[in-house]
Amino acid sequence: MINRLFALTCTMAVVMLTSCKKEEENNPPQNTPSEVRYDPNIKAVINSNCISCHGASNPNAGLSLTTYEQVRNATEIGNLLTRINSSSNPMPPTGLMSQTNREVFDNWVSDGYLE
Ligand code: HEC
Repeated sequence: MINRLFALTCTMAVVMLTSCKKEEENNPPQNTPSEVRYDPNIKAVINSNCISCHGASNPNAGLSLTTYEQVRNATEIGNLLTRINSSSNPMPPTGLMSQTNREVFDNWVSDGYLE
C-alpha cells in the first residue's frame, strides 16, 4: 500500500514538474521585447548591417531593403531568412550577425510582420 502511494506521489510530482517546465517555455523571459516591429526593431538591424549594400539606389543583387514592403517581401517570399542564417553563404557577406540580431527576424515573422 505504501509502495503504491509512493508510486502515485512520484507520478504526480513528475506530471507537475513537466507542466511547470512547459509553462516556462511558453512564457519568454521578461527582458525580451514583447513584440517585434519593423520600425524600430527590424529597421535598426538592417540599417546597421545591410543598408550600405542594399540601399535605395542601385542596390546589390537589385535588392533594396529600405521600406517595410521590401523587407517583408524579402523575408516572406524571398530568401532573406535563409541568407542571414547561412554559414556558407551569409548576409552580410562578412559573416553571420549575432544570434540576437537574427532572432529579431524570427520573432518578427512569428509576431505577424508588425509594421
Ligand atoms: C557588403 C555588401 C553587403 C551587405 C552589407 C549585405 N549584402 Fe546582401 N547581398 C550582397 C551581394 C553582393 C549580393 C548578391 C550576391 C549573393 O547573393 O551573394 C547580396 C544578396 C543578398 C540576398 C539574396 C538576393 C537574391 O535575390 O538572391 C539577400 C536576401 C540579401 N543579400 C540580404 C541581405 C541582408 C538581410 C543583409 C543584412 C543583414 C545584407 N544582405 C547585407 C551584398 C551585401
